Amino acid sequence: MTTNTGTALVTGASSGIGKAFAQELARRGHDLVIVSRDAERLDALAAGLRDDHAVAVEVCRADLTDAGDVARVAGRISSDPRLDRVVNCAGLWVAGPVLGGETRRYAPLMAVNVVALQELTLAAAAAFAARGRGGITNISSAVVMAPQRFHAVYVAGKAYVLALTEALQGEVAGSGVRLQAVLPGFTKTELFDRAGADVSAVPDVMKMAPGLLVEAALAGFEAGETVTIPSLPDLADWNAFLAARAALEPNLSHDRPAPRYRLAEAV
Ligand SMILES: NC(=O)c1ccc[n+]([C@@H]2O[C@H](COP(=O)([O-])OP(=O)(O)OC[C@H]3O[C@@H](n4cnc5c(N)ncnc54)[C@H](OP(=O)(O)O)[C@@H]3O)[C@@H](O)[C@H]2O)c1
Repeated sequence: MTTNTGTALVTGASSGIGKAFAQELARRGHDLVIVSRDAERLDALAAGLRDDHAVAVEVCRADLTDAGDVARVAGRISSDPRLDRVVNCAGLWVAGPVLGGETRRYAPLMAVNVVALQELTLAAAAAFAARGRGGITNISSAVVMAPQRFHAVYVAGKAYVLALTEALQGEVAGSGVRLQAVLPGFTKTELFDRAGADVSAVPDVMKMAPGLLVEAALAGFEAGETVTIPSLPDLADWNAFLAARAALEPNLSHDRPAPRYRLAEAV
């Protein structure tokens, strides 16, 4: 059945946060395109969502480390005028210290968390701007607010997602397109198990269920937020951070260094 609410494409829909997004968007009446590598899991999810919510669900098997597959998904976004929502959840984590190993082990992380997300975001932003409407949600991470405490490559990728989302929102402002970056804290998904990491020492009070995270993310999107931190109790803390950042702006580009950096003879 085709609904009136538009079609949403969700990557990483086979588990965790992406699956919870697919379930909640279907419950709200969206037709779906669900994307990941595991066709069996996607097929099972699609069958359940069709039965439970009478929405149309298309399974799109894609490996987002593969440029051809990414281009195919981007093409799916660009070519379907009913598609007005993209949620980029596909992602992975790596365990262990950053130094000392083969740096090429980070290639899949960068390919999925950064390159594919960028390609799909840009495809969606261009298509939605042409259509005059559409929403893009990108899953970043709360680790970007405490970068020194987490895996450098993972944090850097998530910081890229936040920066891309905020910057692109500036470019599409007024076009009818909205972007949102979501910064989850620890979430009860397969992310860490897949990386062979044990996060059992992290207290349960710090771990959110994916369904709750998605409810908060959708509420944040509806409230017009460009950045949503589901755990953060007081929005004033985020606004204070933005204000502190904005206070730097007048002094970020001058024709000479600040006095504390100038050589004695140049002062
Ligand atoms: N869990 C947390 O604590 C947490 C916190 C902050 C941010 N995040 C972010 O949230 C996002 C979702 O992760 P999750 O926690 O829900 O983990 P998850 O349960 O492991 O889900 C990851 C999803 O990404 C898909 N994926 C991984 N590699 C892929 C590839 N090469 N091609 C296509 N799809 C791929 C997986 O599907 P297939 O295996 O079927 O391909 C799966 O659907 C990630 O970006 C993660 O970095 C998670």
